[in-house]
Amino acid sequence: MDRGSGYQQNGEIDRITLTDIGFGHCDANVRLQADWRAHILTLFMRFGTEEMKMADTHPTKMAHVVYRTRRFDEMLQWYQTVFGARIQYQNPALAFATFDDEHHRFAFANLSLMQPNGSSDDRPPTVGVDHVGYTFASLSDLFETYARLKQDGIRPYWCVHHGITVSVYYADPDGNQMEFQVDCCRSSEEAHAFMNGPQFGENPVGVEYDPDEWLARVRAGQTVADLLPSSGDPSPSPIRGTLGSILQKA
Ligand SMILES: [Fe+2]
Repeated sequence: MDRGSGYQQNGEIDRITLTDIGFGHCDANVRLQADWRAHILTLFMRFGTEEMKMADTHPTKMAHVVYRTRRFDEMLQWYQTVFGARIQYQNPALAFATFDDEHHRFAFANLSLMQPNGSSDDRPPTVGVDHVGYTFASLSDLFETYARLKQDGIRPYWCVHHGITVSVYYADPDGNQMEFQVDCCRSSEEAHAFMNGPQFGENPVGVEYDPDEWLARVRAGQTVADLLPSSGDPSPSPIRGTLGSILQKA
C-alpha cells in the first residue's frame, strides 16, 4: 500500500481506516483499536507532512547557466545574436545577460583574463558550463533543502551571498556544479539596478556565510533583509568550485 499517496492525493486523512493498513482483524478490543487508529493516523500525518515538506524544497525554476570561456567577446555576441540577449552587467572578467525578466539567464567568466596562461584551444572541462542555477521560492525552502541534503551526507562546496541571490552550490557525482538560490530583489528592475550599482561593481562575487548558522536564523523567522551582510566591509569570497581550482592554478 502506498501510505503517502492517499493523504497527498485526497487530503482526507479520515478516509484511511485500520482495514486499509491491515488492522481490520483487531476488532476484539475497540478501545485498543481506537488508540492504534489515533497513533497510526498521527504517523500518517507526520509522514504526509514530511512528504509535503520535501516537495516544497524542490526548485521553482531553472534560472541560468554560467560558462567559462576564452572567447569572452565572441560568446557575448553569439548569445546576443542567437537568444536576443541583452547585457545586464559587464566588466572585463565577468558578464551577465538575459533575454526575459530574469536578472540573468547567462553569465560568462573570462578565462583569458582570469587565467591568461591557458590556450584558446582549451576545451571542456576547462571551458564550458561552470554551473546551472536553480531558484527556490523562499529561504525556508532553500535551507530546509540544505538540511535535508546534509542528513543524506550531501554537502555544498560553496555558500555565498551574491547580493542579488543567496546561494548554495552543490556538485553531483560526476562533478557537474549547480547553484541553489533565492532572489534577494523584489523585481527584475531592482536586480538590474543592484547589478549596476557600486556594491556589485566593487564585489560581484559576494560574501560567504555559514549555512548552519543561516539555517537556524531562517528557522527563527529571519528574512532575506535580516540576512544581508552586516555593516562594515565583509571580505569578498574567493571563487570556489571548478573555476576556483582553475584560477588557483594560474
Ligand atoms: Fe550562478
